[in-house]
Amino acid sequence: MRKKRILSGMRPTGKLHIGHYVGALENWVKLQDEYNCYFLIADYHVLTTSLKTDDLYDNSIEMLIDWLATGLDPQKSPMFRHSQIKGHSELALIFGMLITVNRLERNPTLKDQVRDLNIENLTFGHLGYPVLQAADILMYKGEAVPVGEDQVPHVEITREIARKFNNEYGMVFPEPAPLLTQFARLQGLDGSAKMSKSLGNTILLSDDPETIKSKLRKAVTDPNKIRKNDPGNPDICLVFSYHKKFNKEEIPEIDAGCRSGALGCVDCKMNCASKISAFLEPIREKRNYYEKNIDLVKDILMDGERRAGITSEETMKQVRKNMKMG
Ligand code: TRP
Repeated sequence: MRKKRILSGMRPTGKLHIGHYVGALENWVKLQDEYNCYFLIADYHVLTTSLKTDDLYDNSIEMLIDWLATGLDPQKSPMFRHSQIKGHSELALIFGMLITVNRLERNPTLKDQVRDLNIENLTFGHLGYPVLQAADILMYKGEAVPVGEDQVPHVEITREIARKFNNEYGMVFPEPAPLLTQFARLQGLDGSAKMSKSLGNTILLSDDPETIKSKLRKAVTDPNKIRKNDPGNPDICLVFSYHKKFNKEEIPEIDAGCRSGALGCVDCKMNCASKISAFLEPIREKRNYYEKNIDLVKDILMDGERRAGITSEETMKQVRKNMKMG
């Protein structure tokens, strides 16, 4: 049976954190055998929120290293930047004619971004970035798109564009479905709902054990557990939520120890830090290997871009033919 195709992507904002792993990468690694996967480094998307491009290449390489270190396999899945595959821009231009401004303005994810980032003057490119995302997905005829909740509206826009194109010019594209990532987001070290670089509350996949310890020391816990022997409530403790992910075996003990007051926060945090470090150790080792062999990483990217380029040309030929513009 033909394997279904998946496309997913991330913006290259630099080194990834454990929230990226839990929210996406872990899932991507698992999907590689069951599906034909394409993984996109969405470098043009970064321009929606920052016009500084000096670090874009280095950030793309850093992200690729994290992908490889967590187990994405370049033999199975091409990894590439959409800036290098010219068809993405061409397809986005065509798709831009198939959707109204009104529809794009109703996108809840965009509205959240405008509010959270205090954007006063929205650019044309930012409003339209789901159109570029639709081109990313449909270029590879992605049937499933593993994403978090916030990206579901973009997959819906992609479906609408695919439908419109197929109606107008004949069947070329599938209507992709979102594949929701199971595990909820990891909270940030400061207790905010999301781990995020801009909030400075992350544990990086590349952090060494000492860094992880010092970051955890400052992590927020149950505010009512002030002294070591005060009873605490693990249900509202962020460190406990990390234990649930990285230290499943000890959950009953930690839960009981926290509630009774026998377990103090410092010990609990240091235990958590060592479990996260142990988890990250093989990733860190692989990272070191790729950092020392940076030419290999660049070759992997070039090869991914070559393969993605071939698929993209095939799709664009079909598009031009159906549009009688070939
Ligand atoms: N918009 C996504 C994000 O902000 C990144 C992205 C770009 C993407 N193109 C994609 C995700 C295609 C899935 C499929 O995280």
